[in-house]
Amino acid sequence: MIIDIITIFPGMFGPLLNESIVKRAQQKGKVNIRVHDLRDYTLDKHRKVDDRPFGGGSGMVMCADPIFRVVGKLQGRKRKSETGDRLPRVILLCPQGKTLDQKSAKRIARYKHIILICGHYEGVDERVREGLADEEISIGDYVLTGGELPAMVLVDCVVRLLPGVLGDKNSLKFESFESNLLEYPQYTRPAEYRDMKVPAVLVSGDHKKIEGWRKEQSIQRTKERRPDLARNHKRS
Ligand SMILES: C[S@@+](CC[C@H](N)C(=O)[O-])C[C@H]1O[C@@H](n2cnc3c(N)ncnc32)[C@H](O)[C@@H]1O
Repeated sequence: MIIDIITIFPGMFGPLLNESIVKRAQQKGKVNIRVHDLRDYTLDKHRKVDDRPFGGGSGMVMCADPIFRVVGKLQGRKRKSETGDRLPRVILLCPQGKTLDQKSAKRIARYKHIILICGHYEGVDERVREGLADEEISIGDYVLTGGELPAMVLVDCVVRLLPGVLGDKNSLKFESFESNLLEYPQYTRPAEYRDMKVPAVLVSGDHKKIEGWRKEQSIQRTKERRPDLARNHKRS
């Protein structure tokens, strides 16, 4: 997969790209992540990416032109109207978008090439939405300063879903949100810690019983913490 990230703060992505699973995924050639400085696509000597909003109001709005330029370059200079599905999927990070969840992360992980646009200030000129973005993704009902952290959240959860990125395929299969369930409680050594004991079944060696216990815990936990998911689990 190729992931292009468009931002006015390219330096923010260093820690994401140079640590842990995302770093290893790049080293293994599972993903190619490229960060583009939006200011490189401006035409004026001040490398200006924002301007005052038409109609007045507070703050600044990110201009459409540098964003259209960089996306156009990444798309091979074709316009959205000519696209079809073969062009990279353009995703605008935006608090007004559809909220990211595991299902949408899995869908996005199937694209061969995505372009992420990080907004800043009061947001981006509406024509970026109209003429460029294929979809808008929010990471939750709160407003952040910029799209960089949301882009990192999206990259992290998509990359770990790419085939061959996680060593053990099963770690994805039993994770929270699979089949609309939260994951069962996990323990590691020692079996007793500060008077708290690991449930006996987990050290019994009886794999069938362990599996049953885990399933039961998953269901119970989901009912207690996320009744909305538990309802969907019954239906699925
Ligand atoms: C300060 S926000 C703009 C908020 C905008 N004025 C509004 O009320 O909808 C600046 C940028 O941060 C990003 N952003 C902020 N919160 C976000 C969220 N919850 N999910 C995704 N992106 C977000 C977007 O890229 C947005 O363009």
